Amino acid sequence: MIFDTHAHYDDEAFDPDREELLLEMEPAGIAGIVNMGASLRGVEESQKLAERYPFIYAAAGVHPDEVGSLDEAGMSRLYELCCRPKTVAVGEIGLDYYWDKESHELQKYWFARQLQMAIDTGLPVNIHSRDAAQDTFDIMKAEHAGTTGGIIHCFSSSAQMALEYVKLGYYIGVGGVVTFKNARVMKEVVAAVPMEKLVTETDCPYLAPAPNRGKRNSSLYLPLVTEAIAGIKGMEVCQAEEILYRNALQVYHLTP
Ligand code: NI
Repeated sequence: MIFDTHAHYDDEAFDPDREELLLEMEPAGIAGIVNMGASLRGVEESQKLAERYPFIYAAAGVHPDEVGSLDEAGMSRLYELCCRPKTVAVGEIGLDYYWDKESHELQKYWFARQLQMAIDTGLPVNIHSRDAAQDTFDIMKAEHAGTTGGIIHCFSSSAQMALEYVKLGYYIGVGGVVTFKNARVMKEVVAAVPMEKLVTETDCPYLAPAPNRGKRNSSLYLPLVTEAIAGIKGMEVCQAEEILYRNALQVYHLTP
């Protein structure tokens, strides 16, 4: 069984066929999906998906590109959603200095506030960090994010940095990038991090694995990611799949 620890099925890319696509998941062995919050609208959509489909869970959080719309009213709504039974994480939250849509100060402020929310509500976090590895790590340490645990999603820094996060108690999210021919660093990360600290994710509709690179991604492509991880680890695919699935349940405090 396969678990998608990070997806965006509320995205408009799925508007034409969301229902049909999601009904294909369980028969294909996709046993669990966590739909991330990204905007204040997105967190509401995630809840609706989680209410409708037994295998979908929700995360509540606002992405660094969207924190300009966050205020105290938004924060109290997020706190409410964190207490819903199918909310399993605070995410995706973090820093994005690549798109740089909001000032670094504002991004850091709301990142710290949402990390505190995770501690207050006892939820793990799902971290988005792009071109901001050191600041992300420093804030997480300062905010005691080691106590919540969680996943560093779409990890794009060095193997050395990945091991620092593992030491802090975090899992490393591996998606389609690991299947790309030129993804040397991601392959090094997967080789360096213990198998017990890796989880699979799509970030769909983005980042479809090879040979579907550039197409709309979905959890149905995750076997390609599992195969790539198994290949790097020199492991049977079915054995890798079992460990990765168990890791996902563990990080989100779910029982099989
Ligand atoms: Ni995402």
